[in-house]
Amino acid sequence: MFNSGIPEIDRQHAELFKILNRIKKYINTDEEKKECEIFLSDLKEYIQYHFAFEEKLMKDCNFYDFKNHSDVHSDFINLVDEAIIDYKLTGILQNKIIVFVEDWFTYHIEVEEELFKDFLVPRLFSSSGKTPVS
Ligand SMILES: [Fe+2]
Ligand SMILES: [Fe+2]
Repeated sequence: MFNSGIPEIDRQHAELFKILNRIKKYINTDEEKKECEIFLSDLKEYIQYHFAFEEKLMKDCNFYDFKNHSDVHSDFINLVDEAIIDYKLTGILQNKIIVFVEDWFTYHIEVEEELFKDFLVPRLFSSSGKTPVS
């Protein structure tokens, strides 16, 4: 899954899954409340950082499906916001939320990002092998 051909994007995707795995360890434990609050703010912050990074690349390369892909990002941020509100109201961060985020990213990376990967990679990497993205 982490083989888009754009190393920085792959690194960020791996980091997202690392954050998700970290929180999974705390669900249903005594530290859940404390750790989940940290997790949710870390997760949202990192997702926003990642989406902004991708959107800049897409814009810089005039990606033809930019609007659609960034709308998908915005819709997902809204869902994360709803999960955070729900967590604050109930105090319960259920495993299903984590599974939902994992599934969303897996589908997004493997299916929805295929389009931009094919479009961006040849535009980002010159024949000299140098990359503007490190
Ligand atoms: Fe991504
Ligand atoms: Fe994306």
